[in-house]
Amino acid sequence: MDVPFLDLGAQYESIKDEVHEAMESVLENTSFALGPAVEEFEANYASYCQTDHCVGVSSGTAALHVALHALGIGEGDEVITTPHTFVSTVWAISYVGATPVFADIDPGTYTIDPEAVEAAVTEKTEAIVPVHLYGQPADMDPILNIADEHDLFVVEDAAQAHGAEYKGQRAGSIGDIGCFSFYPGKNLGAYGEAGAVVTDDAPLAEKMAELRDHAQPEKYVHNDLGYNYRMDGLQGAVLNVKLRHLDDWTDARRRVAQRYEEELSPVGGVETPHEASYAKHVYHLYELQMASEEERNALQDDLDDSNVSTGLHYPTPIHLQEAYDHLGYEVGDFLETERAASRNLSLPMYPEMTDEMISYVSDKIKQKISAHANT
Ligand SMILES: Cc1ncc(COP(=O)(O)O)c(C=O)c1O
Repeated sequence: MDVPFLDLGAQYESIKDEVHEAMESVLENTSFALGPAVEEFEANYASYCQTDHCVGVSSGTAALHVALHALGIGEGDEVITTPHTFVSTVWAISYVGATPVFADIDPGTYTIDPEAVEAAVTEKTEAIVPVHLYGQPADMDPILNIADEHDLFVVEDAAQAHGAEYKGQRAGSIGDIGCFSFYPGKNLGAYGEAGAVVTDDAPLAEKMAELRDHAQPEKYVHNDLGYNYRMDGLQGAVLNVKLRHLDDWTDARRRVAQRYEEELSPVGGVETPHEASYAKHVYHLYELQMASEEERNALQDDLDDSNVSTGLHYPTPIHLQEAYDHLGYEVGDFLETERAASRNLSLPMYPEMTDEMISYVSDKIKQKISAHANT
């Protein structure tokens, strides 16, 4: 059996007719950049996220960028975030000219540790960007308390957390602005690049809508440094169709996670993910943590030999990337992040996974681990 890491084709097959119809309507009305399909998606997604406003943009990276710009964050400001993330979280801080300041993760959830955030606050701190990594919300209450106390903005990077919940509140609706990616492999994925910001703040929403379209409150009038970050009409159409299925897909992901948990939690040397008591985890990624980097790499190689594709998210933390050498961080600065980076392995995880596939992956893991234990 072959178990791919992701199977976008299987999902496409299940919604083909709906997608074709929606895309055809954009082709007919030629609203290729923004337009009615994007507006409809913005209304639907704001309501899905339990927020008043949604602004569609061209990627998750663009979402983070316009969010920080709209909040007035810039040169001389510090923004606290996690080094255990996809690099875009940190790019956005750099794009506005601010300085990223890292705080380590909580090892139980892999999301930013509020105590580490508190310790990283300085006079220059303007914002905190928690990342709801792998589909599980960060512990937002203590983060909001720190933000209140020091008068900071909170921008949620919810790129991996569509439909996730923190104490019943949707990811993205908790801080000042929530940022989403609809990159094709995401839980809600476009058929190309797309992203969105959500907020309850009307002036902020208006500002972000202007920024994504050349900072243009009216045609050829530019009131700030703007960007071409518009969402494509075709992506709006695809996302409208897919949003109707998102809750079913989330349920299916949670079932896959439950089956993995039953199979793998009893296995020695393998740590399965924890769903925090405050969270509804949407399992964008399903992370195993192994006892060492060698064991992680050996398991990945063995699974590869058995035609099971796995991934590493993320093998080099951002504080150790060459692009961020100038920040002066070193190996050992964020031990929990470095541990997760060297020991985590992402298993295949998507709604269309069959029971047979889950059993196959789990059996291979059990076989490999008992084989290693006997050598
Ligand atoms: C945590 C996180 N932040 C930001 C992004 C950036 O999104 P995009 O690839 O749509 O620019 C991604 C996705 O790749 C992500 O996983």
